[in-house]
Amino acid sequence: MSARTAVVTGASSGIGEATVGRLAADGWRVLAVARREDRLRALGTPFIAADLTEEDAPTRVREAVDSQLGGRLDLLVNNAGSAESAAFADGGYANVRATMELNFDSVLRLTEALLPVLRASAPSSIVNVSSVAGRVASPRQGAYAASKFALAGWTDSLYLEEKGNGVHVGLVLPGFVATEGFPQSHLTRRAATRWIVSKPERVAAAILDAGPGGRAERIVPRAYALVVLLRALAPGLVRRGAAGRA
Ligand SMILES: NC(=O)c1ccc[n+]([C@@H]2O[C@H](COP(=O)([O-])OP(=O)(O)OC[C@H]3O[C@@H](n4cnc5c(N)ncnc54)[C@H](OP(=O)(O)O)[C@@H]3O)[C@@H](O)[C@H]2O)c1
Repeated sequence: MSARTAVVTGASSGIGEATVGRLAADGWRVLAVARREDRLRALGTPFIAADLTEEDAPTRVREAVDSQLGGRLDLLVNNAGSAESAAFADGGYANVRATMELNFDSVLRLTEALLPVLRASAPSSIVNVSSVAGRVASPRQGAYAASKFALAGWTDSLYLEEKGNGVHVGLVLPGFVATEGFPQSHLTRRAATRWIVSKPERVAAAILDAGPGGRAERIVPRAYALVVLLRALAPGLVRRGAAGRA
C-alpha cells in the first residue's frame, strides 16, 4: 500500500515541525509548507517555501501536491499562525486585519484550493489549529482571539458540510505551548507556572486524533477544557478574573 499523504503548514518550527516529525515517523509522506526554506529543507521531507498570505500561495501548494504527493491528499493540517500582542487602541484595525490574513483568510484560501483533491482522496481529513484563545479571550490578544474564534466557528460549519463527502474536519485548541513564536517565557521562568506550559509533540498527537483519528475537537493539554467550560457557564466570573490579572 502506498504511503498516506499530508500537507502541514507552519512546518518550519514549533507545533508544525513536531507534526511533520510525528507523521513521518508513522510512515506518512508529508509536504511541509512555511516561508523559511532552510528550515524546511532540514526536515528531509518534500517541501514548498511559500508565504501563505501571498495571492498565488494556494495554487503553488496545489501544484506541489500534484508533483510531490502524486495528486493524492489524505490530511491537511492548517497550522501556520502568529500573534502580535497589542491593545485595540494601539494596534487598531490594521493589527486585526494582518492577523486575520494569516490565521483565518489564508486557511480558507488554502482549504478552498485543496478541497477538491481531499474529496477525491476520501476518506480524508482537515485539522485546523485554533487555540484556547479561540474560546477565551485575554487583553492585548483581541486580534489573535478574533482570528481563532473565527477559525473555530468556520471549522464546525465545514465539518457539517464535508461529512457527506468523506472529508472529516477536526479542531485542535492548544493552551500554552513553548515555541519560537510563542516562547511563553513569562510562564516558564517561574516554577509556579512552568507546569502549565506544554510541548509541541503533545499538540502533534492531538492533531492526529482530530484528523485521521476522527475526533471532533481536542483541547491540549486537556485540563484547559475547564477554563473553556467555565467561560461558557460563568462568563462574568471569567471576565473578572482576567481583568484582575490584566
Ligand atoms: N504555542 C502556543 O502557545 C500556541 C497556543 C495556541 C495555538 N497555537 C497555534 O499553533 C500554531 C503553530 O504555532 P507555534 O506555537 O508552533 O508557533 P511557531 O513556532 O512560531 O510556528 C509558526 C509557524 O507558522 C509559519 N508561518 C508564519 N507566518 C507564515 C506565513 N505568512 N506563511 C507561511 N507560514 C508562516 C512559521 O514559519 P516561517 O516563519 O518559516 O514562515 C512557523 O513554521 C499557530 O496557529 C498558533 O496560533 C500556538
